[in-house]
Parts: sequence; structure tokens; C-alpha cells
Amino acid sequence: TEAWGPDDDELRPHRGPVKVRVPAKINLHLGVGPLRPDGYHELNTVYHAISLFDELTARRGDTLTVTMEGEGTGELALDESNLIIKAARALATRARVPAYARLHLRKSIPLAGGLAGGSADAAATLIACDLLWGLGMSRDRLAEVGAELGSDVPFLLHGGTALGTGHGETVSPILARPTTWHWVVAIADGGLSTPAVYRELDRLRDDSWPPAPLGGPDQLMAALRQRDPEVLGAALGNDLQPAALSLRPQLADVLKAGHEAGAITGLVSGSGPTCVFLAADAAHAQEVAAGLTAAKVCRAAVTARGPQPGARVT
Ligand code: C5P
Repeated sequence: TEAWGPDDDELRPHRGPVKVRVPAKINLHLGVGPLRPDGYHELNTVYHAISLFDELTARRGDTLTVTMEGEGTGELALDESNLIIKAARALATRARVPAYARLHLRKSIPLAGGLAGGSADAAATLIACDLLWGLGMSRDRLAEVGAELGSDVPFLLHGGTALGTGHGETVSPILARPTTWHWVVAIADGGLSTPAVYRELDRLRDDSWPPAPLGGPDQLMAALRQRDPEVLGAALGNDLQPAALSLRPQLADVLKAGHEAGAITGLVSGSGPTCVFLAADAAHAQEVAAGLTAAKVCRAAVTARGPQPGARVT
């Protein structure tokens, strides 16, 4: 059709299906500052994308629908409250196009796990619908739309290892020599509500407990450059961990089991209840995962590698 230049493939609606893979995130450093008037906490975080993926497929349709399989099926509402629907509508509004698509989610990232699964699905939706609708928006413009959907959406569009500030939505990549880090992810039975964990942290801080906030990520950034898992392990930190442990005391058993299984170190991922453990290499990660599984302290223990790219068409 004449309206499109011959080389403007990206700006032409895609016939579909469009398949997008998006990683989960962990926080290598999560420094939580004060509660702001807008209800968010000021953050100083180092995001890290790991090899636990959701996959979103977008097809053309004459209405907007979402279906799913995998983790959380039957628990996650598929109505207007779903972040996938919200992301598609937000993008359509911004681009002034009708929000028509049939979206299908294959979910592996657990719900309310502290791994940013909801933000991941929103990021995947933005990438998929941008292509399906032929919008050709830059990742930065998609990140602007995404920041209003969830604090971690901009990071999950970019992936890798990156610094997050503001309420997490302002992302700058960390340039380091490529190193693969090996993790074990201990998935809990049942989730934790992120707002509830932040509220618990505020409550603990009002009682002058837990210890002083972590502050900036300088030590963590220096550790990343050294490429030594022992050094990285000593620099990992999460201000939300005491709050997650307060709401879910059993997580102490998970951290202890990971330690006993030989992990370099372990910590709660984001707002929890997922715990992540650093291993020296792939074989060590398998051993730690086997130890955690045998200890029967979590629903599943799986190995993962980071960093990974952000939401991408496969
Ligand atoms: O942005 P997101 O939807 O992930 O945030 C969920 C909730 O977590 C927010 O409504 C807020 O209660 C809490 N939060 C916060 N400070 C942040 C990020 C999230 O208090 N920086």
C-alpha cells in the first residue's frame, strides 16, 4: 500500500502472531529511602534480569482479550485489572489506535513473588503490541508508557544489569565486562503483596528497627566489576528483607537451608517471598538447588543465569 515506504516494515501492522519473551528480575541491591507524598518510596536499586521467562503471544483480533497458561492460571484475573490489558490500552491510547489484539500469556514467573512478573508481562505487551500495530515506538517511549503501569516495567524493557532510581522507573544501564552469574531461585508457596511489604518496612522503621537503610549501591557496583562471586555475594543487600521476614517468618528457614546447601549467599528477592542464592558456577547452582529441594522449604528451587536481555521478539 502506498502510504508506507518500501523499507518501512516496522511501521506496517504485523500480520501476527508476534511472540515476545521477557525475563524476571532480581535486585542485587535494594536501598529503600523515605515514603514520598505520592505513595512510593525513593529507591536506589541495582536490577538484574535472570533466565526465568514469561512468553506473550499477540495476534490480530477485533476486540482485546487475554488468555493464559502456566503459573497462576485461575488465580490471575484476566479482566481490566490485568496489567497486560492495562498495558495494551495505555499504548493504544498513546498511539491513538484501537486496542484490538488477542493476547496469550505462557507464565513461568510466579505471581506476587518479588520477581516483577506483572511488570514483565506489561513490558512484553508493550513490545508485542507496538509491533502488531506497526507503531515503531522507541524503547524509551515505551518505557515512558510502562513507568505508569509498574515501577519495574522500564527495566524489563531494557534488561541486563542496571541502576534504578526514582521509584525504580528511572533506569540507567551499568556497563561492565560481560560476566555470567549463577543463581538459584527458591519459589515459595503463595505470594506477598508488594504494598504490604513496603508498609511493614515503614512500620518497622517507625519502631526504629531494622538497621539503618543500605543507602547507595557503590559497593555493589565495585563488586560487579571484580567478577568474583564471593565478592559479589558480600555486597548483595535488600532493605525490604526484614519486612518480608516479618510478614513471612518461614523465609528464615529458606535462607538457612540455602546456606546449608552451600550457597555463597542468599537474600529475599525484591519484596519476596522468592529467595535467591548466588552460586559459584552452573554445577554449584545445581547442587544448591538440589539441597534446597531436599530441605522441603520451598515449592520449587530452580537455577537461573543473569544478566539476560529485556523483553524481545523471539
Ligand atoms: O510500581 P508497582 O506497581 O510495582 O508498585 C506497587 C506498590 O508497591 C506501590 O503502589 C507502592 O505501594 C509500593 N512501592 C513503593 N515504592 C516503590 C515501588 C513500589 O512504595 N519504589
